[in-house]
Amino acid sequence: MQTILVTGASGFVGSRFVRRWAGEYTILAPTHAELDITDSASVESYFAFHHPQVVLHLAALSNTSYCEQNPDDSYRVNVLGTQNLARSASARGIKFVFFSSDQIYNGNCENGLLSEDAPVAPENVYGRHKLLAEELLFELAPDAVALRATWMYDDDSQGLPVHPNFVMNFKRALQEGTPIAFPVREYRGITWVKEVVEFLPRTFSLPGGVYNFGAQNRLNTYETACCYFEMLGCGLRCDDFVIADADRYPTHERNISISNEKIFSASNGAVFFNDTFDGLRIFVECRR
Ligand SMILES: NC(=O)c1ccc[n+]([C@@H]2O[C@H](COP(=O)([O-])OP(=O)(O)OC[C@H]3O[C@@H](n4cnc5c(N)ncnc54)[C@H](OP(=O)(O)O)[C@@H]3O)[C@@H](O)[C@H]2O)c1
Repeated sequence: MQTILVTGASGFVGSRFVRRWAGEYTILAPTHAELDITDSASVESYFAFHHPQVVLHLAALSNTSYCEQNPDDSYRVNVLGTQNLARSASARGIKFVFFSSDQIYNGNCENGLLSEDAPVAPENVYGRHKLLAEELLFELAPDAVALRATWMYDDDSQGLPVHPNFVMNFKRALQEGTPIAFPVREYRGITWVKEVVEFLPRTFSLPGGVYNFGAQNRLNTYETACCYFEMLGCGLRCDDFVIADADRYPTHERNISISNEKIFSASNGAVFFNDTFDGLRIFVECRR
């Protein structure tokens, strides 16, 4: 069995990866206390005693608002932490798979689905730090794989950690009976984390490079929300509950909607995400 070191194994993606793949891989899943990625000496000594064949680097400060307010923390964890791991892994020739983000495209003024070659112009601290982490990573490990993930969702029915996400925000608003607003001028992929977790092992053998990794979505976020609301079939009128927020992103439309063609072809069709609409439809059917 291949041995995978998973950083951030207690998080949203990591906990689901461990549950899905334990038994098919030998998984090393140190807690934050056992391996603080910002401590380069601890990272180096971890690698001296453990011998993973792949590093799946999920540990991060993933809350964009927190990063905006605490840029130094974000830099330490999201940039230096990634660099520490990459240095120790590349010195031993270990394949490195890093979770980056579609926030890298935040600030881009292009329309349509964005390929990995689209200009990157992150407008927030989190996006800038993910981009910097990618750049430093490839200096150390050209063979690394950086996955630019979209916004991911799941509900709380699996007994695993969740943080605010598309379906949980909806669920909470429905429980509270409070209408919920979504931007009309925003385009982004929104992906069921189950698909992400399923495809992750297929990224371990990809050639080094950046790959968009998640659902394509040609709908704006308000339209996506209306579609999801209809799928839920909860008996309310969509117009009474889902509010179109046309004021957000006044200067230019926020487009971080990815094309996933590159990973589809690089994996010979093995990584094939549903688009956001179909992913949500399948999610709703599975949870019925
Ligand atoms: N969730 C999304 O929608 C989304 C979208 C795009 C990209 N991503 C990226 O995907 C990856 C996984 O996201 P996620 O949602 O699973 O994140 P998450 O739920 O916030 O989990 C982050 C993990 O990182 C650990 N961690 C934080 N600081 C650490 C440190 N200094 N040393 C060691 N571990 C540390 C946390 O452990 P403690 O809790 O114990 O501190 C936790 O296990 C991240 O890189 C994130 O930026 C996520």
